[in-house]
Amino acid sequence: MVEHIRYTGDALDLLDQRVLPAEEKWIHCTTSSEVADAIRDMVVRGAPAIGVTAAYGMALAVRHGEDLDRAHQVLMDSRPTAVNLRWALERLAPLDPSEWEAEARRIHEEDIALNKAIGAYGTSLLGEGTRIYHHCNTGTLATGGWGTALGVIRSAWEAGKLEHVWVGETRPYLQGARLTAYELQVEDIPCTLVTDSTAATLMAAGKVDAVVVGCDRVAANGDTANKIGTLGLAILAKHYGVPMYIAMPTSTLDRRCPSGAEIPIEERDPAEVRGHRGVTWAADVPVYNPAFDVTPAELITAWITEKGVWHPPFPPEAD
Ligand code: MRU
Repeated sequence: MVEHIRYTGDALDLLDQRVLPAEEKWIHCTTSSEVADAIRDMVVRGAPAIGVTAAYGMALAVRHGEDLDRAHQVLMDSRPTAVNLRWALERLAPLDPSEWEAEARRIHEEDIALNKAIGAYGTSLLGEGTRIYHHCNTGTLATGGWGTALGVIRSAWEAGKLEHVWVGETRPYLQGARLTAYELQVEDIPCTLVTDSTAATLMAAGKVDAVVVGCDRVAANGDTANKIGTLGLAILAKHYGVPMYIAMPTSTLDRRCPSGAEIPIEERDPAEVRGHRGVTWAADVPVYNPAFDVTPAELITAWITEKGVWHPPFPPEAD
């Protein structure tokens, strides 16, 4: 597994995902606002990884004697859609600040363990020789380690059930092309990179057995926010009779959100659509760049959690 979050007590070092796989560069954070900047600027991204990072940001705030209410607010405001951020900060809140560092480390370690459970439950749903279509990046880089949807892929590969992964490139930020393809290659898992527009052609040709993706916030009724493009994949999957699975740590379930209509959707910089890393290919036209979309629950076959395979209405909190 690629290492990408290193907490040393005095600092948090983050592998800069903006420049992967071309460069391996680390960003050094010593304050909560540097951590918030790293989350906002996509140095670290992916819902569970954002939660882990925010918890370490609060640990740094304690270590360096910052105003803790301000640190909490700055981190909370860094990105709006992934509920794991709020979940992690709320997990620290009832504890004494002297315990936050240990709790942040626990959140990190637990995330790796629960991803392996998601991987095992997900594998149990797949047949032999499965060809999976994957969107965005949900691997080690997006989590504490192992991955959610990519964790299912890793576990299915280990179990000998996986034949191939179709890696959707994920415009505009290219998490699939830059990060997922990189993670799969490091582990020699067979994969092919495709443009997002190729998904329909693959499904029409019967070359996809399951779509497995992650999520940033799941409403109480099962409506699911994930990377822009997920809704289109779900509609295609329904049309072609392909199962659509959401890999979901239960920390991504927002029981306070009754439906997808209440999920805040981040809009990002037009420059991300007009070009990439300093190269601009579009004219200076208006751009609409929502980072996520919401897939209605009825288009989703199942939610794979660390506690089992779920369907709405989801089991109560204690389960
Ligand atoms: O904008 P990003 O890269 O943070 O978006 C990430 C996704 O949408 C992932 O699919 C989601 O966070 C799940 S990661 C396990």
